Amino acid sequence: MNKIIVANMKMNLNIEEISNYLKKINANVNSENVVFCPTSIYLPYFLKNNYKIGIQNIYSKNSGAYTGEVSPSQAASLGIHYALIGHSERRLYFKEDDILIKDKVLEAIKNNLKVILCIGETLEEKNLLKTTKVLKRQIVNVIRELDREMLDNLIIAYEPVWAIGSGLIPTNDDIEKISEYIKMVVNDTKGYLDIDVLYGGSVNEKNIDELNKLKNISGFLIGGASNDPEKIIDIINKTIDK
Ligand code: PGA
Repeated sequence: MNKIIVANMKMNLNIEEISNYLKKINANVNSENVVFCPTSIYLPYFLKNNYKIGIQNIYSKNSGAYTGEVSPSQAASLGIHYALIGHSERRLYFKEDDILIKDKVLEAIKNNLKVILCIGETLEEKNLLKTTKVLKRQIVNVIRELDREMLDNLIIAYEPVWAIGSGLIPTNDDIEKISEYIKMVVNDTKGYLDIDVLYGGSVNEKNIDELNKLKNISGFLIGGASNDPEKIIDIINKTIDK
């Protein structure tokens, strides 16, 4: 199976840098398995190229007086394919909880977006040996209300909070074990065997070859390294079969 690469560009790059970035990626990236998630205001510039587009955040309602928000149907009508939901930065800085995240996931999938649900434990939770408990809660609270067809449009990204932007990364063995655990939780909760699991957290052009040895991971969610066009192109070339 071809892996997928999701570039989470977060709140980075100004318009000049975006123009330069686009020149490079449009000349070098040609794959349905690559998803660029730029800051929302730049999304239209990324459309209609030879890759997919994702929005970094989406609201749980479809229209109305919600100043500053973007709805799933608006995103889908623009031609956006994916939505990142539940990123740890949204949970931490914007106080998003499992209930809001579940509502966002439901509404996004109902409006034909594919959802990349981000989950992961903090360093404190890891040290207290709470990783599996936390992941289970984050998964079950969201998928409880999803039917089979909806699960076909869900991808789970395992991003340990302590690995994001830190240069720290779990061993391949640990990632394999957690991925198996996530698949088991989805299967036990919903009888669904085919969930795709991505890994995210300090993935870069140097460690990608080692990470590509992982058998039960369907791809990677990349933050910091995705803002440098040379680095993300290198990662894509090392990961996606031509
Ligand atoms: P990072 O971020 O690659 O910079 O660690 C990953 C993410 O937050 O999705």
